[in-house]
Amino acid sequence: MKKFKEDFLWGGALAANQSEGAYLEDGKGQSIIDILPVGEKRKHSLKDPNYAFEQTFDYYPSHQSIDFYHQYKEDIKLLAELGIKCLRTSISWPRIFPKGDEMEPNEAGLKFYDDLFDELLKYNIEPIVTINHFDTPLYLSQTYRGWENQQLILFYKRYCETLFRRYHKKVTYWITFNEINMILRNPFLAGGLITNEKSAVFQAAHHQLVASAEVTKLAKSIDPTMQIGCMLAAGSVYPYTCNPKDIQAAIERSRDQYFFIDVQVNGTYPYFSQRYFEENGIQLNRSQEELALLAEYTADFIAFSYYTSRLETVDNELRRNLIEGNAMASVRNPYLKDAGWGRQIDPLGFRITINEIYQRYQRPLFIVENGLGAKDERTGEHIHDEYRVDYFRSHIEQMAEAVKDGVDLIGYTTWGCIDLISAGTGEMSKRYGFIYVDLDDEGKGTRKRYKKDSFSWYQKVIETNGEII
Ligand code: BG6
Repeated sequence: MKKFKEDFLWGGALAANQSEGAYLEDGKGQSIIDILPVGEKRKHSLKDPNYAFEQTFDYYPSHQSIDFYHQYKEDIKLLAELGIKCLRTSISWPRIFPKGDEMEPNEAGLKFYDDLFDELLKYNIEPIVTINHFDTPLYLSQTYRGWENQQLILFYKRYCETLFRRYHKKVTYWITFNEINMILRNPFLAGGLITNEKSAVFQAAHHQLVASAEVTKLAKSIDPTMQIGCMLAAGSVYPYTCNPKDIQAAIERSRDQYFFIDVQVNGTYPYFSQRYFEENGIQLNRSQEELALLAEYTADFIAFSYYTSRLETVDNELRRNLIEGNAMASVRNPYLKDAGWGRQIDPLGFRITINEIYQRYQRPLFIVENGLGAKDERTGEHIHDEYRVDYFRSHIEQMAEAVKDGVDLIGYTTWGCIDLISAGTGEMSKRYGFIYVDLDDEGKGTRKRYKKDSFSWYQKVIETNGEII
């Protein structure tokens, strides 16, 4: 039976927008994340970015964040001690092109990532890079209406060309967009859009798909060893009952997450897209040339995040009390434990989801986010987070089952291996890491790092290549 491959990439994941801080340092421009506050006001801003454009808040968590920009050497040393084989992080677009539409990049920004990758490689940690993770330059959002505007393809291409030429010897695995389906739930965060109108959102997604194919073509011409992947926010959708109407509802709901990946892997818009566009009054501008590009340059691998499964029903009574999920609302599943912040814990759902994706596409998979956001308590130097170990143990067990099922899996990076700012709420207290950062929801704290109990547990998992969980 299959086990984890010898070169299985055990790792951790971060994103620039949630960890770096240094928000205007060394020539960096503002990103859309930099105008977002904490808590309810953040949620309001995500739904209506004009609300955030028009006011000043007391505290912006991304401005200093956990200060990874200055502390990355100490952090990488700790991560090397943890034993990770790879670190997924993102490059901040406005650190390289501060406004987004410039002709020339910012050298100081490029130098930072050169140093960061060198530091990782020094410890044999492979950098896995997300090119755009929730940080479209603010200027592109406010001046061009974000990805709704076709010109962003050109700007993104210029940005990618700069990255590929500069880092192709240091980075093999690239992910073009973090969770491409997130644009349907969170158009501002995922695409810098200032509207939630459906046609605009699908047009923006089309631009991201074309951009993705364009840069896959470009990457192959610069260095064909580079692997260019797509990414989705995954989680199988279960029907609440065996009522065929619930089953149909679940099928339709799960199309949301696969819509764009179908394009990126199969090279064509899915067979159900035309009906969906017609019924929703969506008219897309798509040229023959773009469609040919999509058909030719598909993704080398499929990356995805998994936090939990989702549940769907046509019963309006049940639909009245939806839980938040990971920006993807769901009916509450009575068979699952609650994890706080509107999430439930479903380890078997992880195996189900991995198999569902593999069965659909038969392309190598890379799990690039999985984890438990929880409130940790620190007593002196100690953080006892056995709940996090339980979460990971049960999920890694199911991931191992999926590998035994025959799924081709490249690696597994846990989300927020060092505590960082929550994308959804801006809180620091929603912690995911093996490494605790002394910082609270108002930005107070020393930012000192502490190892949690889960640190030595994950260290053992990696050391034994998943034999001891
Ligand atoms: C994913 C994002 O959707 O979920 C991450 O790619 C995010 O950026 C993660 O941090 C967890 O969500 P949250 O809201 O708890 O930070």
